[in-house]
Amino acid sequence: MIPQEILEKIDGNRQRYVDELLTFLRIPSVSTYSQNTSDVRRAAEWVLNHLKRSGFQANIYPTERHPVVYGHRCPHANRPTLLIYGHYDVQPPEPLDEWITPPFSPSIRDGYIYGRGATDDKGQFFTYIEAIEATLAVRGELPINVKVLVEGEEEIGSPNLRGFLGERRKELKADAVAISDGSQFSRGMPAITYGLRGLSYMQIDVQGPRFDLHSGSFGGVIANPAQTLIEILAKLKRADGTVAIPGFYDDVLALDDRERREMASLPTDEAALKAYVGMEDLVGEPGYTVMERRTARPTLDINGIWGGFSGEGAKTIIPSRAGAKVSMRLVPDQKSHVIGRLFNDYVSSITPPGIKMTITELHGADPVLVARDQSSVQAAARAIEAGFGTPPVFIREGGSIPIVNLFKEVLGLESILLLGWGCSDDGAHSPNERFSLDDFHHGIRAAAAPLHELDDSAG
Ligand code: BES
Ligand code: MN
Ligand code: MN
Repeated sequence: MIPQEILEKIDGNRQRYVDELLTFLRIPSVSTYSQNTSDVRRAAEWVLNHLKRSGFQANIYPTERHPVVYGHRCPHANRPTLLIYGHYDVQPPEPLDEWITPPFSPSIRDGYIYGRGATDDKGQFFTYIEAIEATLAVRGELPINVKVLVEGEEEIGSPNLRGFLGERRKELKADAVAISDGSQFSRGMPAITYGLRGLSYMQIDVQGPRFDLHSGSFGGVIANPAQTLIEILAKLKRADGTVAIPGFYDDVLALDDRERREMASLPTDEAALKAYVGMEDLVGEPGYTVMERRTARPTLDINGIWGGFSGEGAKTIIPSRAGAKVSMRLVPDQKSHVIGRLFNDYVSSITPPGIKMTITELHGADPVLVARDQSSVQAAARAIEAGFGTPPVFIREGGSIPIVNLFKEVLGLESILLLGWGCSDDGAHSPNERFSLDDFHHGIRAAAAPLHELDDSAG
């Protein structure tokens, strides 16, 4: 059990934690934009300094793109080791004019801290750093060994982390990993996530005439690339919302009745969901509930589409190029490399002859299912109860974290604790991203608890 004095210490420091998070959120560490490379680096340094402040032996490790911050404090030969994972990079903030206060000038309104990265993932993983600091302040030492790995490439698919894990396999050895990048089921209903969807993300480019042409002079004899593109895109899904790529569902594990009953027992407020997204209706695969469709069934979405003229007024052209970005969310036992191949074959087969079409794979991640009957999962459940005052529910999430499978494959770790303090209406990846100050505070309390609970679970 976590000592009461540590929780009291955390309660007493509440305001300072918020102030520190505010400075962290001011750094625009957008990993996908090369013009932000030095900001990403600054965010890594910020993390490094906070780890060092807590007496961690820590370094910044450069990769081909953005650095990894890794530190450890392992004072005990015979106690368990917890690896903590988070990411300090963020998604692009656009569209900027939809933010009430600018994305990198964080502000506090109505009990929330607003800013890009507030919930995904700066605010969430920072709870561990503060929890460690509070534990050390009260006790002088951590009850277990702790390793902290914070990357700057999660939002671009973690291209360089596999290499880092492989090279440092021995150093990173641990008994359990806490992934602080998930969420609660809903506000006031904390959760342990036991499933994540995978991802296969593709770009389609269609090349038309060498340059934009007068649509009057040439219209009628030129294959319009925007037209070709939408014809391809229209064939990716059927009218009922299912994915039309042959073989797409072949490896999908069916949900068993027990899991379906468990999912159905969690409250879903469809009216609130519609109001939140501003849509009159929800859509999706027939025969599955909204929660099943959001977390345990695969999907396909067009993320963006371009081509030709979209400025003010009218310009009469046949565009030279058109393209789209398409993502597929995958579930066990689909594999992103297999789905990528099926997508390629299918899109190639429906592209009319004589059209220059190219497909580029942008990133992939395999889906995750974690065994729930492990002592570390029970320890995490007790930690959450200590932090939030409520025991967690068990959920699957629809999002993806590419690195999670690598912890299993490369480090051989089975105890994967997907914990998160944010909520699905925090606006991750959206304008006006936010994190509830209460969730932040409860999260720090919950993050302090595994340090003690894991020791107890190891006996
Ligand atoms: N924190 C999210 C993943 C997530 C979302 C977990 C919702 C639980 C609930 C993560 O930062 C993320 O956005 N991942 C990307 C992966 C991609 C960029 C490779 C995603 O899911 O789109
Ligand atoms: Mn994240
Ligand atoms: Mn994200």
